[in-house]
Amino acid sequence: MKRFSLVTWITAVLAPAAILSLAPAHSQDRPAQREPDVIYVPTPYEVVDKMFELADIRPGEIVYDLGCGDGRIPCMAAKKFNVRTWGFDINPVRVRESLDNVKKFNVEHLATIKQQDIFELDLSKADVITLYLLPRLNVKLIPQLDKLKPGCRIVSHDFNMEGVRPKREISFRPTTGESTRDHRIYLWVTPLEKERPGGN
Ligand SMILES: C[S@@+](CC[C@H](N)C(=O)[O-])C[C@H]1O[C@@H](n2cnc3c(N)ncnc32)[C@H](O)[C@@H]1O
Repeated sequence: MKRFSLVTWITAVLAPAAILSLAPAHSQDRPAQREPDVIYVPTPYEVVDKMFELADIRPGEIVYDLGCGDGRIPCMAAKKFNVRTWGFDINPVRVRESLDNVKKFNVEHLATIKQQDIFELDLSKADVITLYLLPRLNVKLIPQLDKLKPGCRIVSHDFNMEGVRPKREISFRPTTGESTRDHRIYLWVTPLEKERPGGN
């Protein structure tokens, strides 16, 4: 009886715990579960268009939006350029909104939305990456962006990436009343051009 209880306990408690501890915390296939690094603020639609213009999206390319919010960027890029797009967000509410938008935009065949931590992603398939995060998060992404193939374009709404020289930088004020302020858009092209500390 005593032996049976021990075996039961090992099977029921120890084995599942051991299996769980072997699994990676956030694999590419499992939803990420932690607090977002930045709150949700959508990029106005007109600014999204301007980001696309800077990114120069071409047929057959793959677009990633890191922290996709309501999915407007992957949906709009898929609709406008007929390209494959991916949106990643850590917040399940945003992921649901994105999935709703994928349906509304009729781009189910082109746009994929995943609940993932962007800092755990392999970005090697991307040709274009869009960002609306924070300056320090852009910097945190540099090791992943350094692994991109040459010629990839990275566009960031409002925020620079300290230590990496942008290829272009523009200011843009929407005209439709969606926003009344100037929006800055930065473009980098891989390989990233690093600035020397304290100089150019
Ligand atoms: C400022 S919003 C930008 C939304 C969208 N890209 C746009 O421009 O409209 C930032 C988004 O990043 C998400 N986010 C924050 N930290 C994240 C992380 N570590 N991994 C994935 N998504 C994250 C937030 O949930 C939020 O939806």
